[in-house]
Amino acid sequence: MKKIILTGDRPTGNLHLGHYVGSLKKRVELQNEGDYDEMYVFIADTQALTDNFNNPKKVRDNVIEIALDYLSVGLNPKKVTIFIQSMISELCELTMYYMNLVTLSRLERNPTVKAEIKQKSFGNSIPMGFLSYPISQTADITAFDATVVPVGEDQLPMLEQARDIVRSFNNIYGETLVEPKALIPDSVVCRRLPGTDGKAKMSKSLGNCIYLKDDSKTVRKKVMGMFTDPNHIRVEDPGDTKNNTVFIYLEALCTDEHFKKYLPQYKNLDELKAHYEKGGLGDVKIKNFLYEVIEDTLTPIRERRKYYEENIDLVYDILKEGTKKAKRHASETLKRVKEAMLIDYFE
Ligand code: TRP
Repeated sequence: MKKIILTGDRPTGNLHLGHYVGSLKKRVELQNEGDYDEMYVFIADTQALTDNFNNPKKVRDNVIEIALDYLSVGLNPKKVTIFIQSMISELCELTMYYMNLVTLSRLERNPTVKAEIKQKSFGNSIPMGFLSYPISQTADITAFDATVVPVGEDQLPMLEQARDIVRSFNNIYGETLVEPKALIPDSVVCRRLPGTDGKAKMSKSLGNCIYLKDDSKTVRKKVMGMFTDPNHIRVEDPGDTKNNTVFIYLEALCTDEHFKKYLPQYKNLDELKAHYEKGGLGDVKIKNFLYEVIEDTLTPIRERRKYYEENIDLVYDILKEGTKKAKRHASETLKRVKEAMLIDYFE
């Protein structure tokens, strides 16, 4: 069986460090390892519209922002097909057929969707499109015969739904669709990076994100204002490193090389932690170090972004090319699906 990697993001805001450690970094690694037959990364504008249908400008503007984020982290259009979801009409057709295979109560049980509904205070007025987006997400995945789907932890219920649909489809219509597997980060801290305020998750609506496109000054300000250990008042006080956002970020981002470069008095993060826990290490020092580590991460990303911003036509060409290629694959799958469902009348 072919190895086909696929993943996507909703264009509702710029991508941030949480996305980077949770998924983008892994995608670039997978791309560079080259151990796959096809790799797709796409901008899920159709899905973004399920809860932003009344704000089309926001979605449209963010499509190009996400494309810039993708290219600036180092996704290479020669190795990865980058496309826009709504341009592939085959996905809507597949969604329509998959809808027959899912019950309303199954959709209502999806824990991620449930949490989102609560957060958005839809009350009893849940848009159909929103409730059923896991079905359309199954279309995204199966249209390209994806076998590996690198995502954040919150997407596991979507993959479960996708596998359910695939099994049910294959059961009824014969072996047609490929079962996908989720790929989540090995590192627990990378799975859910907290916001700079220490809250559960980096999230645009909470205003606690460090964006990949933030400039140095903005990053410095955000890092200096970060949540640490509230009981670590004087430098001499022993500090907690476990619920300390600065240490969590360091865990996710820093390497021994960073210590050599910026804090040579420590060999690695374990030594820094031990000092902090014993007492005698101030927050400003660890924040300064974290700032350098983030800057090392973001500098090449900013440079690539600048190049693509200055060559925006190139970005549109990449999206156009990618969309064309993606459409070819999706239309082959749709053909197979219709044949299996006996609705291929004129073939
Ligand atoms: N639901 C994903 C998110 O919120 C985006 C997405 C849409 C996706 N379709 C997908 C991810 C297919 C992986 C595979 O970010």
